Amino acid sequence: MNRTPAAVRDVDPPAAADYLLGSSSAERERLLAQCALLRPASAALLDTIPLLPGADALDLGCGPLGILDLLGERVGPTGSVTGLDTDHRMTGWARESVSQLGLGNVEIRHEALPPVAEAHARYDLAHCRLLLINTTGPRGILDSMAAVVRPGGWVAVQEFDWATWQCDPPHPAWTRLKDLLAGVFGGDVHIGARLPGLLREAGLTDVQATAHTYYWRPGDRYQTLLLSFAHLFRDRLLQHTPLTVGEFDSLTSTLHDHLDQRHTTVRESLLVQARARKP
Ligand SMILES: C[S@@+](CC[C@H](N)C(=O)[O-])C[C@H]1O[C@@H](n2cnc3c(N)ncnc32)[C@H](O)[C@@H]1O
Repeated sequence: MNRTPAAVRDVDPPAAADYLLGSSSAERERLLAQCALLRPASAALLDTIPLLPGADALDLGCGPLGILDLLGERVGPTGSVTGLDTDHRMTGWARESVSQLGLGNVEIRHEALPPVAEAHARYDLAHCRLLLINTTGPRGILDSMAAVVRPGGWVAVQEFDWATWQCDPPHPAWTRLKDLLAGVFGGDVHIGARLPGLLREAGLTDVQATAHTYYWRPGDRYQTLLLSFAHLFRDRLLQHTPLTVGEFDSLTSTLHDHLDQRHTTVRESLLVQARARKP
């Protein structure tokens, strides 16, 4: 497998349609389960940021929940949390989560961040999780996040790096599908590895990074995530890679059988967390 990370792509500003995983009910359910999985790691990240009660926090690309609940707890009733998302269904689901969880200090808006020239520095913390990996404009987004933070405030980012995403024992069907998927995923699947540098490029200081990973076995929902992505991206794989329908069917069925073996484990992508301060 080619393990050389691709260069960070940074082209046109992303639009809602860029989120290629879509906004189906299944994607909502997947994201909410992922919120639960990543909750302890996200809470640990927030522990490294001195966010006082009464602070104003932003969760950019919050999806159906993101870390709105964690931020709401940290800033308390006198603080405010804003969740932004460019997908209408996601903002609808985020409002449902906010109401179900009784988060009185959280507001959801269907918006992207403004470009730097139009931004107002109004937040003490701007956070995004698994947003940059799905976009083609990570630098523009980070610049805007830095611009909406007050001097002395924080930018925090959590993104995967697919480099560690492996099955054991290794299998050629895994390697081939993962490599092909990386090319059609829509963003840089190794962006996690680049977060410290990108935060510095956005003019931020005091950069600190850490990482978490997870292991799966047959029966765990994430054991077969690569297969789920392959099915979700089937049309793109067939259109934009040399894969034929026959090869797709054979690779996915072979990999399904391999992942189902009692001793096959999957090591998840590395969840990289980085945070930095605006001077
Ligand atoms: C993988 S989901 C992550 C959701 C959430 N952050 C979490 O960790 O559960 C990415 C979300 O970012 C949203 N999104 C994509 N581009 C965006 C942009 N430029 N501004 C705001 N939201 C965006 C998508 O609609 C989607 O809801």
